[in-house]
Amino acid sequence: MTADADIVAELRAARLVGEGDVVLEPLTGGVSCDVWKVETPLGPIVVKRPLPRLRVAAEWLAPVERGVSEVRWLRRARGVDPRLAPEVLAELPTGHAFAMRFLPGCPVWKDELMAGRVDIDFATQVGQGIAAVHAATAHSETDRAAFPNDEMFRALRVDPFLLYVARHDAVLASALIALADDLVSRKIALVHGDVSPKNILVGPDGPVFLDAECAAYGDPAFDLSFCTTHLLIKAVWLDDARLTQAATALVDAYRAGIDWEDAGGLLLRAGKLTAALLLARVEGKSPAPYLTDPEHKRFVCDQARELILASQPLDALVTNWKRTLT
Ligand SMILES: Nc1ncnc2c1ncn2[C@@H]1O[C@H](COP(=O)(O)OP(=O)(O)OP(=O)(O)O)[C@@H](O)[C@H]1O
Ligand SMILES: [Mg+2]
Repeated sequence: MTADADIVAELRAARLVGEGDVVLEPLTGGVSCDVWKVETPLGPIVVKRPLPRLRVAAEWLAPVERGVSEVRWLRRARGVDPRLAPEVLAELPTGHAFAMRFLPGCPVWKDELMAGRVDIDFATQVGQGIAAVHAATAHSETDRAAFPNDEMFRALRVDPFLLYVARHDAVLASALIALADDLVSRKIALVHGDVSPKNILVGPDGPVFLDAECAAYGDPAFDLSFCTTHLLIKAVWLDDARLTQAATALVDAYRAGIDWEDAGGLLLRAGKLTAALLLARVEGKSPAPYLTDPEHKRFVCDQARELILASQPLDALVTNWKRTLT
């Protein structure tokens, strides 16, 4: 039986599809998983199965148990607000695959931004959504116990984004190692771990967050920084001021939602993390695929390096971020 036939058999056993022909239609994207759309009597669903080896240039192995983290995050986020994540319909027995409801007619936020459709209010909603999950899970022993994923977070986030760059840059190594140590030491709230515009659908009621394979209990500043980094890099790539405005809106909305700790302290950590992630998106293990122009790369790197050595709170970093040399 092929792997796809396994999936179909498991969907039948879960009573999500009937006995007739079942077509698995691959969805685009996906460096870390097989993702299919399947028409069912319940309507369209998505089946997602983690790959043991990511489809990226550098060698990058990842335990398939991350499928479990994703399902838990999606369910927890829906508990905070059902608009924030798709409904999980079933966990399948093999390889931590699962089925969720397909959200029709919802573009991926990244595609909207790339097409020049920059909706500042939507960026505000993204900031509110991330903060809502953090606020609901902050200082919660139950949530901490439900996401015992420190090792996975280290392997998929801390090592490739912070330590990989540290190993290749003697000047920044000590600052990046200190940042990595600080990041892994903080157990504050439930972190999604991959809040990128490519993992956010533009739903009719605001953002819908997907792809929570890296979810872990940790420092909420990470999610804020991860998403802001993408907007700032896109601002350089597209030379579009609305993208820095979107970053400002996101950070402001997130800040307004911080009720579990001092906002100033969090924004300082987020400024440091964003600086490191900006550099990692050029020189790390998972570079932004669209940032290919050497001038753009150098421009992002130069600013990032300066910001790693002389950190700024995230709100100031965003305000001072330059899109062009002029
Ligand atoms: N519930 C859903 N409804 C509609 N579209 C979806 C849904 N889940 C996933 N998709 C589509 O499939 C794409 C890939 O999904 P997802 O990001 O979860 O997979 P992935 O393999 O982890 O991706 P990547 O590694 O590229 O981030 C999404 O960008 C989106 O276009
Ligand atoms: Mg994705």
